Amino acid sequence: MSRNRPRTHRRSRTLLLALSTALAVSAGTAAALPGDSPAAAAARVDNPYAGAKPYVNPEWSAKAAAEPGGRAVSDQPTGVWLDRIAAIKGGNGKMGLRQHLDAALQQRADLVQLVIYNLPGRDCAALASNGELGPTEIDRYKKEYIDPIAAILADGKYANLRIVTTVEIDSLPNLVTNTSGRPTATPQCDVMKANGNYVKGVGYALGKLGDAPNVYNYVDAGHHGWIGWDDNFAASAQVFRQAATAEGATVDDVHGFITNTANYSALKEDNVRIGDTVAGRSVRESKWVDWNRYTDELSFAQAFRNQLVSTGFRSDIGMLIDTSRNGWGGSARPTGPGPTYDVNAYVEAGRYDRRIHIGNWCNQAGAGLGERPKAAPEPGIDAYVWMKPPGESDGSSKAIPNDEGKGFDRMCDPTYEGNPRNNHNKSGALPDAPVSGHWFSAQFQQLLKNAHPAL
Ligand code: GLC
Repeated sequence: MSRNRPRTHRRSRTLLLALSTALAVSAGTAAALPGDSPAAAAARVDNPYAGAKPYVNPEWSAKAAAEPGGRAVSDQPTGVWLDRIAAIKGGNGKMGLRQHLDAALQQRADLVQLVIYNLPGRDCAALASNGELGPTEIDRYKKEYIDPIAAILADGKYANLRIVTTVEIDSLPNLVTNTSGRPTATPQCDVMKANGNYVKGVGYALGKLGDAPNVYNYVDAGHHGWIGWDDNFAASAQVFRQAATAEGATVDDVHGFITNTANYSALKEDNVRIGDTVAGRSVRESKWVDWNRYTDELSFAQAFRNQLVSTGFRSDIGMLIDTSRNGWGGSARPTGPGPTYDVNAYVEAGRYDRRIHIGNWCNQAGAGLGERPKAAPEPGIDAYVWMKPPGESDGSSKAIPNDEGKGFDRMCDPTYEGNPRNNHNKSGALPDAPVSGHWFSAQFQQLLKNAHPAL
């Protein structure tokens, strides 16, 4: 399945890789082919992860390696988050986008994973990842954020890197689930629905970034514990379609979708399958599943892929699943199904996901690293990825002044009793966490300890 886009130069990617590897060996860096015009990028492939060598972010890698036991995973590829305008240029000891791409060439990597994350009014249903742009600042988003990124990605120097862009985490489904008419509505999400700036921003990003033939756009698609309910499933696909056809974008700019980014939903719940019936009741009736159609991320991602195709996306789209923190291993991991006298007892004793409530999202106690990044693990899935770099906080446990626009969300406070979005349960967050995106050593230690598969 190829993308069937016109290319000026088509050549075998295997040959190209073989040649560039040979050249890289002799020249000491990954170089372009002699006489290769910068525009002669490899044709977009169906699954960019297949046969690829993904870039290892040296900044994350150094932090992971500095932790006891961290070297077991410090060579894993993780996402590079462009979470503010200043992240493009870098500075203050942080690498900018060009530095990352240059470092990727030096590593002789051929795939880089970027996170596009700076929408106006970002994180409208929470506070921990509020951003620098106010709800109306769509023009700054376009001109000061997307345009400069697109210009760098279009540089011929990077033409042989497959650049995966995951576009705007945790944004569009908010327009479906957290707006007026729903008990979980927030005024901020109502504003973003009314002004259209999430839809416009995502459309603009997809269209602009999609101009470079080596860019692979994957739109964020929440996770099963968010849009796996009937009320949200088809409606979210519709909003994605609306965004993918806004501001000059077309569905051809969308290579696929990513689920579970920075979330904790288990990949496969072997002991709690959606078809299971216990003591005459479906697991869907249990408190934990609460009528969701899915009990795990893999079944959701595969089903949602079909929904997206039937909503007008290309039939060859692929899904990514973020498995950075959904392992739920360690001594608390159930070893088999629960008792069958009662559906709640069955689900509680059998589920791997140990969260108090599936709406909990901040620095979850008990979590572990999930599947290591892997290409083409299951039908319809392009890769398991670690887009959220393990060890980076989801938000601070108490208010911490910062110059990043980050707020204090009590979902990150272990003493918080919850809100409608987690059905008024305890937050389940680890204590003493720093501001979102900052290194959280205790969390990283726990992720190592509870890794599944074990390290
Ligand atoms: C959070 C932060 C962001 C950070 C990212 C990755 O979403 O808000 O600043 O880059 O996590 O850790």
